[in-house]
Amino acid sequence: MPATSVIGLQWGDEAKGKVVDLLTENHDVVIRYQGGNNAGHTVRFDGQTYKLSLLPTGILHSHVQSVIGPGVVVDPRALLRELDSLEAGGIDWTGRLMISDRAHVICPWHLLEEAAFEAHRGSRAIGTTMRGIGTCYREKVGRFHAIRMGDLVNRDRFAARVREIVPFKQIILDALIPDGEKLNAEQIIEEYSACADRLRPLVADTTAWLLNALEQDRRLLFEGAQGSLLDVDHGTFPYVTSSNSSGCGIHSGSGIPERAIDSMIGVAKAYTTRVGGGPFPTEQDNDIGQRIRDAGNEYGTVTGRPRRCGWFDAVATRYSARISGVDTIAIALLDVLSGLGDLQICEAYDIGGTVTRDLPACPDALRAARPVFRTVPGWNEEITGARTFEDLPQNAQQYVQTLSELVERPVQIVSVGPDRDQTILLSPLPGTETGPECRRDS
Ligand code: GDP
Ligand code: IMO
Ligand code: MG
Repeated sequence: MPATSVIGLQWGDEAKGKVVDLLTENHDVVIRYQGGNNAGHTVRFDGQTYKLSLLPTGILHSHVQSVIGPGVVVDPRALLRELDSLEAGGIDWTGRLMISDRAHVICPWHLLEEAAFEAHRGSRAIGTTMRGIGTCYREKVGRFHAIRMGDLVNRDRFAARVREIVPFKQIILDALIPDGEKLNAEQIIEEYSACADRLRPLVADTTAWLLNALEQDRRLLFEGAQGSLLDVDHGTFPYVTSSNSSGCGIHSGSGIPERAIDSMIGVAKAYTTRVGGGPFPTEQDNDIGQRIRDAGNEYGTVTGRPRRCGWFDAVATRYSARISGVDTIAIALLDVLSGLGDLQICEAYDIGGTVTRDLPACPDALRAARPVFRTVPGWNEEITGARTFEDLPQNAQQYVQTLSELVERPVQIVSVGPDRDQTILLSPLPGTETGPECRRDS
């Protein structure tokens, strides 16, 4: 049975949530395997908008089992808030969510430390989501003060860990922010133990469960968070997140061998956005950028921050497609470009007189990169009603084809609006025979 993955090819917010939702119908299990509640995935259908952060998007489908894998960092308070708000919205998730006992727990000191580190960097701040993501991952790699979900649900072990860690953390926090907030170990134990009481039935060995599911031919769908350019090893370091958010993270974050995945779909916007700091060669900090922001409603799902906007960067996206090993791409938010006039696509970087199609590792080199743009004609027609490729204006078809050529991957999906049905399929989706022909008939 096919296993499928969905990976962001830019700096996040590429519409992975929408693509995962499209694929979910034909899969049995949806797995989040990295990141945490820094993600914000939006899904729209039947006139409703759902925003998922820590939960796999599959939670919205009653036939699907959702898994939070070992590579995710979990803030139990945020997880319960999200589950409660789903329930309040009428989504019954009972019996359909599992959380790995190996996943690491975000604790209050992670958020305090992150705030101190970001403040210390001043104008060079990473611009994180302030959810304690990076500080929790640092703890995991450092090992000494890490707490996993398996520890959280063991009352005595958790209390002992907190009593051991808090005095040490207080020394560091006092040095960083002398008049800052004081940690209260007993209060933390009480608050987190109350969360643990509710989460205990959901915590399990998801690795063994997923390996069994695979052997039983259940169809797995891996939901990437963030984007390949935010990958801690392969992205635009240090302006990245702290996990492997490219395709490289699937195996380590889930425990499922990558060779089990036979279809990898990379998602990219028809232009580029970025939230937070860091180099962004095609950024349009001008009227064009503002028009894209307005048309695409480019404000962060998690933090509400205005997203930085710019032209499509085929150098960065091709790099992502290659390192993530995607087979096909989904081009989303094509409708946002309607009426913008001529469009620009970055096909190379000029770095100090050297023209390259490779993404440099050094942030200073990327900051110095001047995009070599190809100018292509735009279109004025509204395209949100297009349901086949042929429905698109000629220039929009040509634009998509040019992106495909420059990224060197076939386009499988074109998205022309946030709704589930505002979608054009160019080839059958994995796990189904539903192709363009079938959709035209339906
Ligand atoms: P994710 O983090 O990759 O899941 O993406 P986000 O949900 O953070 O951001 C994508 C935004 O674009 C959401 O508000 C979606 O509802 C919206 N969206 C998705 N596809 C389309 C599209 O084709 N056109 C438009 N206009 N909006 C879209
Ligand atoms: P989804 O899954 C866009 C960005 C932050 C910041 C950097 C590090 O919705 O695509 P972190 O809190 O992770 O340490 O922040 O990464 N970032 C995202 N940007 N979409 C996301 O998730 C992001 N998750 C983190 O803005 O620049
Ligand atoms: Mg998002």
